[in-house]
Amino acid sequence: MDYKPRVAIIGAGVTGLIAIKQCLVAELEPICFEQTDHTGGLWRYTEVTEENQNPHSSVYRSTIINTCKEHMTLSDFPIPEDWPTFLPHYKVAEYYDLYADKFNLWPHVRFNTTILNASMIPETKKWKIASIKKGGEKEEEEFDYVMVCTGHHSVPRLPNYQGMKTFPGKQIHSHFYKEPFAYAGKRVVVVGVGNSGMDISVELSHYASQVYLVSRRGRLPWILPRRGPFGRPFDHSNSRFAGLLPGFIRNYIVRLFISLTTGLPPKHLQPLYPFSAAHPSVKPDFLDRLSTGTIVVKPDILSLTTDGSVSFVDNTIVDNIDVIFYCTGYNNEVRFMDTEIINGGDIVRKNFDEGEYRENITWLYKFMFPPRWSNIAFLGFVQQIGAIMPLCELQARYVTALIKGKISPLPSSEEMDKRIMAYHNRNRKKFYEAARHTMEIEMMPYCDTIAKDIGCYPTLTKVLWKYGFGIWRRVLFGVPTPMQFRLLGPDRWPDAAKWIRIYNKS
Ligand SMILES: Cc1cc2nc3c(=O)[nH]c(=O)nc-3n(C[C@H](O)[C@H](O)[C@H](O)COP(=O)(O)OP(=O)(O)OC[C@H]3O[C@@H](n4cnc5c(N)ncnc54)[C@H](O)[C@@H]3O)c2cc1C
Ligand SMILES: NC(=O)c1ccc[n+]([C@@H]2O[C@H](COP(=O)([O-])OP(=O)(O)OC[C@H]3O[C@@H](n4cnc5c(N)ncnc54)[C@H](OP(=O)(O)O)[C@@H]3O)[C@@H](O)[C@H]2O)c1
Repeated sequence: MDYKPRVAIIGAGVTGLIAIKQCLVAELEPICFEQTDHTGGLWRYTEVTEENQNPHSSVYRSTIINTCKEHMTLSDFPIPEDWPTFLPHYKVAEYYDLYADKFNLWPHVRFNTTILNASMIPETKKWKIASIKKGGEKEEEEFDYVMVCTGHHSVPRLPNYQGMKTFPGKQIHSHFYKEPFAYAGKRVVVVGVGNSGMDISVELSHYASQVYLVSRRGRLPWILPRRGPFGRPFDHSNSRFAGLLPGFIRNYIVRLFISLTTGLPPKHLQPLYPFSAAHPSVKPDFLDRLSTGTIVVKPDILSLTTDGSVSFVDNTIVDNIDVIFYCTGYNNEVRFMDTEIINGGDIVRKNFDEGEYRENITWLYKFMFPPRWSNIAFLGFVQQIGAIMPLCELQARYVTALIKGKISPLPSSEEMDKRIMAYHNRNRKKFYEAARHTMEIEMMPYCDTIAKDIGCYPTLTKVLWKYGFGIWRRVLFGVPTPMQFRLLGPDRWPDAAKWIRIYNKS
């Protein structure tokens, strides 16, 4: 019998499940390690308890996904037609369980098993993986390849304000926020205007006596509704055709859509950068709460004091603050391996000034491969405008094709460094410089690049020839559904065209 390369997959969130499935398709031997007793990763709501004070999951009880089902579906396992357009966290987790059922992924996952260390054996280029099962002994095994699927939204990033250590109120990161009820009647400060800050400030504004929302840039972000004009999911408009329009026209159209739906904030709070320069925030009812005064926007914090006051850079002060919520994002960290593998080490230290951008860099070719280590790939280490799931699926297809020698091998490490540097140079011009933008990309252009490498890019002439005008039109102008990547090339799925039709109907 042919030798099947053994692949260690670390994490059984959606990315890990996809990786297992693609390994099985490619006739590799996947062994997935998952530290918890479930799949679904951060989408499996988990309480903070005495026994589990640092759960992996970052979702709160009210989290609803921001990307519509037609966009976030996996390409050969459609989210059922009768499910809601925007799934609450428990439906997202349920969908992943159904995916694991469908492709019989369960036997390949070792639950309650934490990876403690992963290191490359220089002589053989294999990977030594040390793991521990709950209540068991440490074990070491060798693998031909490693896929790291641990996500990048579980290591909280905190600011460093003067007075944090002596402030008498409670201070918690959004990662640990679960429900608003305990904060009824409290005076709270929420720091950060990303999606966590938006969600949590709006939710708290129904319970707290006052919410102060801190935007360190002094302005609000562009705030999208989930549903755009005519009630269509906003991300339906993110079509291939829209991607062909010049950036300034797209920015203008989005501004128009926002004006016609949620509306723009008061002039002095409107963003100073174009829509395309930041990761978008989605919160349809934010301006409604702002207009009631239950949320007041403040600029960056100067200091916290021992009497429970918070002072701001505009010299204003709010007092009697009971709780500060830091919705300040997450660090890109993988704690069980040499940090230089992911953060680039010397090359980054030499080429980037100190600061939060440099601290949060991931130095990965195609957002997957560390240039100086072989037989390892990171999946899902991207901050995408759009849904991440279809993108991870293409990454897993790429990596398995690479292992099987079905696509060109990776270029030299020097060439990879050059391309990563070119990305950062472009990126820092396109998005404003911040820790959260170090791996920001637009989903469709990235997916298309990977799809071209694998050979499943939906070339429009071929789509027209093979499937006719109806599908061609939907691929160009319709919902950016990932079934597009199952129309042509390897791993074609016979039902892809049917589901492109169905998803474009809704
Ligand atoms: C509140 C919130 C909302 C979001 N909303 C959206 C959205 O609307 N659309 C979107 O596309 N994305 C969204 N995201 C991004 C989100 O990261 C992805 O949707 C998705 O969960 C990534 O899946 P993953 O499998 O890569 O990582 P995760 O879901 O984080 O799963 C990683 C898994 O690895 C396991 N693991 C970690 N370390 C170890 C270890 N040492 N040993 C063994 N197992 C380990 C964890 O237990 C976990 O099961 C959101 C993120 C957050 C925080
Ligand atoms: N419903 C949903 O689907 C949902 C809900 C929550 C989160 N999410 C997703 O989860 C991911 C994480 O989102 P997030 O909102 O937790 O983090 P985030 O996107 O990284 O946003 C962090 C926010 O905190 C600010 N910030 C960072 N450091 C700061 C500091 N030192 N002082 C003051 N402000 C600081 C940032 O400001 P700058 O912009 O200036 O950097 C930004 O406004 C994103 O992908 C997001 O889309 C989705």
